[in-house]
Amino acid sequence: MIYLADTANCDQIRDLIKYYPLEGVTTNPSLLAHEGKPLSKIIPEILDCIGDKMIHIQTISENAEDILKEAKLYREVFGLKGNFYAKIPVTREGYRAISLVKDSGINVTATAIFTQQQAMMAANAGADFVAPYVNRLDNIVSHGIEVVADIVKGIKMYGLPTRVLAASFKNVDQVYRVSLTGCHSVTLSHEVFLALMSHPMTDRGVQDFEKDATDIYDIK
Ligand code: G3P
Repeated sequence: MIYLADTANCDQIRDLIKYYPLEGVTTNPSLLAHEGKPLSKIIPEILDCIGDKMIHIQTISENAEDILKEAKLYREVFGLKGNFYAKIPVTREGYRAISLVKDSGINVTATAIFTQQQAMMAANAGADFVAPYVNRLDNIVSHGIEVVADIVKGIKMYGLPTRVLAASFKNVDQVYRVSLTGCHSVTLSHEVFLALMSHPMTDRGVQDFEKDATDIYDIK
């Protein structure tokens, strides 16, 4: 399973990259708006931090032709290559756009997925990644982990090349349980990322080792 950061905040991205070999960054209009800067400023800043790691940028157009134009525009304006994924919400026009954008040579992440069939149909339309929203499903008394498990099963059963990019996590337990489904990738907030990497027992163990080492580690 590979790990991406679900944030448009460059301080957070730099912090994660410093300590972990992050595979890339996913953004959406809400995360970008949170930074209080226009796309033309924030995307180049993110690219400065991540180099040629994956970047997923969401389109906001309604119809398929406009989504294609938008994806092409981002590729051109930001000088993006194979690391660019156009994130396309799975509206009716979105499904149409997935094929168009993919055929134009741009990678596609189908997003805002809440059911196994939305994911399967996006995968069949040509999406490289499908992104189910785990915590948002849990919040409506649905079962985010089970939806991810069903998507992983369907994709494997039909031998599709699409990868599952589980998104929308609020705690480490959701990520742990998603990892047991065979999900290919997750995208996590800075907060959840840090929580996954640490454990109080690890800190306690390291403190004890440091104390015990003080007098005997004499090789300098
Ligand atoms: O990438 C989609 C994800 O950002 C949604 O997460 O936390 O807004 O439910 P959240």
